Amino acid sequence: MADQTYDYDVLVIGSGPGGYVAAIRAAQLGLKTACAESRETLGGTCLNVGCIPSKAMLHASEYFDAAANGAMEKMGVKVKPTLDLDAMHGQRLDAVNGLTGGIEFLFKKNKVTWLKGHASFEDSHKVKVGDETVTAKDIIIATGSSVTPLPNVEIDNDKHVIVDSTGALELPKVPKHMVVIGGGVIGLELGSVWRRLGAKVTCIEFLDQILPGMDGDVRKEAAKIFKKQGIEIRTGTKVTSAKATKTKATLTLEPAKGGDEETLEADCVLVSIGRKPNTDGLALDKAGLETNDRGQIEIDHEFRTKVDGIWAIGDVVPGPMLAHKAEDEGIACAENIAGQTGIVNHDVIPSVVYTWPEIAGVGLTEEAAKEAGHEVKTGKFPMMANSRAKTNHEPDGFVKVIADAGTDRVLGVWCIASVAGTMIAQAAQAMEFGATSEDIAYTCHAHPTHSEAVKEAAMAVQGKPIHM
Ligand code: FAD
Ligand code: NAI
Repeated sequence: MADQTYDYDVLVIGSGPGGYVAAIRAAQLGLKTACAESRETLGGTCLNVGCIPSKAMLHASEYFDAAANGAMEKMGVKVKPTLDLDAMHGQRLDAVNGLTGGIEFLFKKNKVTWLKGHASFEDSHKVKVGDETVTAKDIIIATGSSVTPLPNVEIDNDKHVIVDSTGALELPKVPKHMVVIGGGVIGLELGSVWRRLGAKVTCIEFLDQILPGMDGDVRKEAAKIFKKQGIEIRTGTKVTSAKATKTKATLTLEPAKGGDEETLEADCVLVSIGRKPNTDGLALDKAGLETNDRGQIEIDHEFRTKVDGIWAIGDVVPGPMLAHKAEDEGIACAENIAGQTGIVNHDVIPSVVYTWPEIAGVGLTEEAAKEAGHEVKTGKFPMMANSRAKTNHEPDGFVKVIADAGTDRVLGVWCIASVAGTMIAQAAQAMEFGATSEDIAYTCHAHPTHSEAVKEAAMAVQGKPIHM
């Protein structure tokens, strides 16, 4: 039963993986729930222009690459691929339409009201959505994030020359030369897509290494693999400007630590230097809220903001900007609102880069573990020595298990492997239950699977892997 004073028990602002999941859980718990969304379709960045369409392009381009680069021929399958980019985009759009429509179905099934339009606060319990004003006892801000702009580099997705991730998902033809600004997740995933389809790709990274935040060994090995695939990686370099004509862009670069300028030409530039929380136009001040110096809304462990009845989750709050983190926060936040105890263990959030091979990790890097004061033992097992990876002609990568030297408790697991994104789930689950490396080493793993490499890396922590 809704509290009679308000139109809704819960109003969620934003229908990304944080917002739509929170709305469904709140409704499942018997709360009268609405979700405001300014986009035409539900699902947020993730379903519309993020996780899903990027994976559709990565998956399809992986097939093309395997056929074009001789990987299939090696296995006795002779094919000469030709690219039908329109059809590739078509299957991307099918995936997006199917899944965003699926959320609409789930809203109807769970009786979540979809309020269409941009939401802004009138006060801490009153929100204007489009032309309508609604009140709610509890409000969850799940407005997500958008691209961080780069000074002197103007993004115009319609012209296809200087684009962000949304533009890079929709290019109507394969660029001859794509320059990716930022060697992070988006740059490497979408750079990989267009490299596989025939573009020369140059990646410009400000720091000394790509993939900040990942384990040092992984960063080093990943750079080697991408270079072998033909992506030119220039670290320690910054882009100071990019000027576009109708068909090409001229970039000005300089060493990150200062030095001589140079120019570089490209027919497509992807700006992927990070994302920033969406709070513009929300009128947070009318609700008594503000953002921190990183533009995020601060919350406590239970996702409460400093204003009673207002909660926040997902990309708009501190923490990694990941869909599964947003989803889990959505569930926990709704459960807290309903008087239950919703918890997210932020120490065990896996992250995956969906390149070929995939790159994944959970928990602490070796560097972070040492910095936190742990004496560590590590075990590493190469995919080359894993029977399934070897048989499948997927020799690149390794699994690394980091354990506390005293207690043997697993602190982090990092891997590069064709199916690293799937393998990392078992590491996350083991860590969630406080596993030691010995626990993983003595768990029976099916043979032949890539996951046996996780077991062997755990055995290597004890210095006793079998196949190495
Ligand atoms: P969002 O998904 O950003 O959703 C917020 C929604 O709120 C949006 O639909 C927006 O329109 C709406 N909104 C904002 N302000 C208002 C307002 N005032 N009124 C009404 N509606 C509003 N993460 C992964 O875990 N795995 C991946 O593989 C992955 N791939 C990605 C690929 C790309 C190219 C990009 C850009 C991101 C990717 N991410 C991935 C990150 C992931 O998309 C985000 O972490 C996730 O979508 C965050 O969820 P959210 O619910 O916080 O916000
Ligand atoms: P990112 O933070 O992953 O990488 C940005 C990179 O750009 C960093 O390496 C940074 O050092 C570099 N950089 C910053 N300024 C620069 C400059 N001026 N010149 C050159 N390099 C510069 O950000 P990205 O790739 O834009 O992704 C944004 C977010 O989206 C990430 O936080 C990620 O969590 C999420 N995402 C997740 C995916 C996944 O889980 N597979 C896929 C895509 C995005």
